[in-house]
Amino acid sequence: MVHLVTSVFLAVAAFSALCTAEDVVASCDEFSFANTTLNASCEDATNSTVVETSIDLRTCVGDNTHGQLQCSHSGGDSLASCSGCKILSPSEGNLTLSCSSCPNQFGNYAASSVNLDECLTNNNGTLACTNST
Ligand SMILES: *[C@@H]1O[C@H](CO)[C@@H](O)[C@H](O)[C@H]1NC(C)=O
Ligand SMILES: *[C@@H]1O[C@H](CO)[C@@H](O)[C@H](O)[C@H]1NC(C)=O
Ligand SMILES: *[C@@H]1O[C@H](CO)[C@@H](O)[C@H](O)[C@H]1NC(C)=O
Ligand SMILES: *[C@@H]1O[C@H](CO)[C@@H](O)[C@H](O)[C@H]1NC(C)=O
Ligand SMILES: *[C@@H]1O[C@H](CO)[C@@H](O)[C@H](O)[C@H]1NC(C)=O
Repeated sequence: MVHLVTSVFLAVAAFSALCTAEDVVASCDEFSFANTTLNASCEDATNSTVVETSIDLRTCVGDNTHGQLQCSHSGGDSLASCSGCKILSPSEGNLTLSCSSCPNQFGNYAASSVNLDECLTNNNGTLACTNST
């Protein structure tokens, strides 16, 4: 009986988390990007209004020592050491950050990209980093 009550509680908690954290590509548009900041208009699902929000991608995206961009909460400044970064169209199903040049641990530079839909979430109209990575 105790176990049954516990699993019902966990199921409810997981369901409400899914309801408040929305997929960014599905619920945001008008993306613009400069320096390391992404702006977008995102729907607040609590009242269906659209609000402008922005996030410094350095808080959600880093690069590993191999110079590959990835979802990361390390908070380092590694994204700032990449250059030629732009946002690719989410109309193709992806919101992609693509940089023409990121340094690896040997000081060599190579192109790298990351699917921002995996790094970001829409919390009631506010862009935030996903918790899962
Ligand atoms: C993002 O929004 C801020 C505040 O409105 C603005 O100052 C900034 O220029 C915008 N950046 C981009 C890339 O649109
Ligand atoms: C990007 O950074 C440069 C240099 O700090 C600044 O002049 C420019 O206004 C910034 N652009 C935006 C859209 O914030
Ligand atoms: C929508 O809800 C947010 C809180 O999630 C609130 O800040 C905002 O003022 C609301 N907008 C309207 C038009 O009610
Ligand atoms: C979406 O992004 C992933 C990872 O960057 C990539 O492998 C895939 O080809 C992209 N899909 C589209 C439709 O651009
Ligand atoms: C979104 O708003 C609802 C209702 O106000 C609240 O219960 C929920 O915690 C909020 N979600 C996030 C991720 O802030």
